[in-house]
Amino acid sequence: MFTHMLWFEELPSTQDFLKDKSLPFGTVVVSNRQTRGRGRYGRSWHSQDGGLYFSFLLEDMNNLQELPLVFGLSVCEFLESLGVVPSIKWVNDVYVEGKKICGILVEKSKGKVIVGIGLNVNQGSFPKNLQATSMLLASGREYKCVDVLLILTDYILKNLDLFKSKGFLALRDKIKARLLFLDQEVIIYNDPPVVGILTDLSEKGELVITTAEGSKKIISGELTLRGFGLS
Ligand code: BTN
Repeated sequence: MFTHMLWFEELPSTQDFLKDKSLPFGTVVVSNRQTRGRGRYGRSWHSQDGGLYFSFLLEDMNNLQELPLVFGLSVCEFLESLGVVPSIKWVNDVYVEGKKICGILVEKSKGKVIVGIGLNVNQGSFPKNLQATSMLLASGREYKCVDVLLILTDYILKNLDLFKSKGFLALRDKIKARLLFLDQEVIIYNDPPVVGILTDLSEKGELVITTAEGSKKIISGELTLRGFGLS
């Protein structure tokens, strides 16, 4: 399914490259560095050497809100195969030991879906303002980015196939088992904010929060553990 791969030394953003060009579905664009790497909510994505920055071009699909979780699960399964213990911070991030190791950005543009992944691989340190870690820091080993990409892509393809053929429900339990903050008191910074216990993941990938007013399903917003200000 991933038919073409383009690998650059440096790009402004692999995400923008796929947005601007007319390339076949199934193309993967990778860059060793990005000068204008982007994250969610218009944030910049720190894209120094040592990380893996790549984007997939997929055909448009209906259940887009579940897609970051499918990619997050794939990243987790890949990291677990190396002995690292990751969690999915709903809805777009993967954490290890309380620090972000991977961010996922799903965007829709002109009938196509672009999924960008920033995975911290060999960085030995990060700016102090970032609560970040890397595969090197988590495991004490360096990795070849090309090997990481090829093996990770296998996990992504396996889970995408399952998602397309059987739906999100086929993956839900595996994702729920890896959810950060499950059974803990959290805040979702919506307007108004939702405070409660994160009790479940719905069949559509929504967070189920048990609040003083009853159970609420959350489709978007930024999740934080109450009292810690982790983001
Ligand atoms: C986030 O955590 O907010 C998502 C970060 C996504 C970063 C990746 S790196 C590859 C691709 N190109 C970009 O400019 N952003 C995504």
